[in-house]
Amino acid sequence: MLTEHLTRTERPLSESIYQKSCTLMPGGVNSPVRSFKGMELSPLIVKEGKGDTIWDVDGHSYIDFCQAWGSLILGHSPEHVMDRVAQQLYQGTSFGIATPYEMQLAEIITRHLPSIDKLRFVSSGSESTMSAIRLARGFTGKSIIVKFNGHYHGHSDSLLIKAGSGVNHLPGASSKGVPEELVRLTASLPFNDLETCRAFIRSRDDIAGVLLEPVAGNIGVVPAKREFLEMLREETAKKGIVLIFDEVITGFRVGLNGAQGDYGIVPDMTCLAKVIGGGFPAAAFGGKKEIMDMTAPLGPVYQGGTLSGNPLAMCAGVETLKTLEQPGFFSLLKEKLDAFLLPIREKIEHDELNVALQSVGSMFTIFFGLTKVESKEDLAKMDEERFKHFFRYLFERGVYISPSAYEAHFLSSAHTDEHLKFTQDLILEYFDLYL
Ligand SMILES: Cc1ncc(COP(=O)(O)O)c(C=O)c1O
Repeated sequence: MLTEHLTRTERPLSESIYQKSCTLMPGGVNSPVRSFKGMELSPLIVKEGKGDTIWDVDGHSYIDFCQAWGSLILGHSPEHVMDRVAQQLYQGTSFGIATPYEMQLAEIITRHLPSIDKLRFVSSGSESTMSAIRLARGFTGKSIIVKFNGHYHGHSDSLLIKAGSGVNHLPGASSKGVPEELVRLTASLPFNDLETCRAFIRSRDDIAGVLLEPVAGNIGVVPAKREFLEMLREETAKKGIVLIFDEVITGFRVGLNGAQGDYGIVPDMTCLAKVIGGGFPAAAFGGKKEIMDMTAPLGPVYQGGTLSGNPLAMCAGVETLKTLEQPGFFSLLKEKLDAFLLPIREKIEHDELNVALQSVGSMFTIFFGLTKVESKEDLAKMDEERFKHFFRYLFERGVYISPSAYEAHFLSSAHTDEHLKFTQDLILEYFDLYL
């Protein structure tokens, strides 16, 4: 039994920091899922991270399968990346002026994502998708944006509609404060439903852009069907609609060429964040030259940012992506995840458990109460209570997975064999005890 590792129920310092934080910040946190509200636990208050492990302020360690929501593909504080950032740190942390590092990172990104002729750096995934749809509207002169139910593209008004992740349970606008007038400009359609989506696109002449996660990560890991993406590419091309892939999670996570490389589909625009910043705030939107050149200062679509292209983030991004370029990086990472998941998959099959285990590259989700997930609609029967129990079982024994049933979990190259075996045994033990 692995229950002897149960130590994380007492976290007095974390609890006191959280209580004080609640008086100073809404929910005590700066992004809702961090509050662990859905897990009915007081949140982690973290002090340190190294490799695959984080330590809370009470001194407990956790093997981390969230990895800053997929941002850290090399694990926490990889030395060569930190060394490079440290060099820059003492040469200036922010200029609001161009530096050579933006060009270097842009050069690496465009080399691996040939659909991107030009790009612009911003600081968050939300900014990248918000700017991409503005550009799509500016380029086409049309106003409707098509997205898909359960896909999350950050917190800008136009995209908080039937969004996934922390707001998955809300119908229509996923937030108060999003005006009805804006809701009407975003059509959210069922993901992977070829006929409905084709018919919708064919029926309209006012669509500026179609935005999607080619592998959804915010309803858990749910890949697009190849024929669905092919249909979207064909129909949008026919009508001059801008097809935008949100690769904020999948970019440089599923492979050097992103999900678009795996599927062999060329979008008009791509949004990136997470991995490209190597753990620092960096994101980007990019695409075809004729679309990108509509952006200020060349064109009439305004976009800007004081901290955009921040030199520390750019240096971290360059060092991280150079590591990912090493031969075999992604195949090794995938092999590692596949080996980790194999006994779990075999158990699900052998015991005919009502569990779906879905993975792409180094991301995975375990869905309880279902055997296959292709869309948000499939999640209606998901057993969220079971996930909560599972999360707590792992957490109390020192394994931290993303604290939501609607999220992906992430492997990094820093996960050790020993920690993977420990986690695998713990999951199998849980299945034995409770399913
Ligand atoms: C696919 C996707 N797009 C956009 C975003 C928004 O990114 P950020 O949280 O950096 O604003 C996220 C965040 O998780 C995401 O998963």
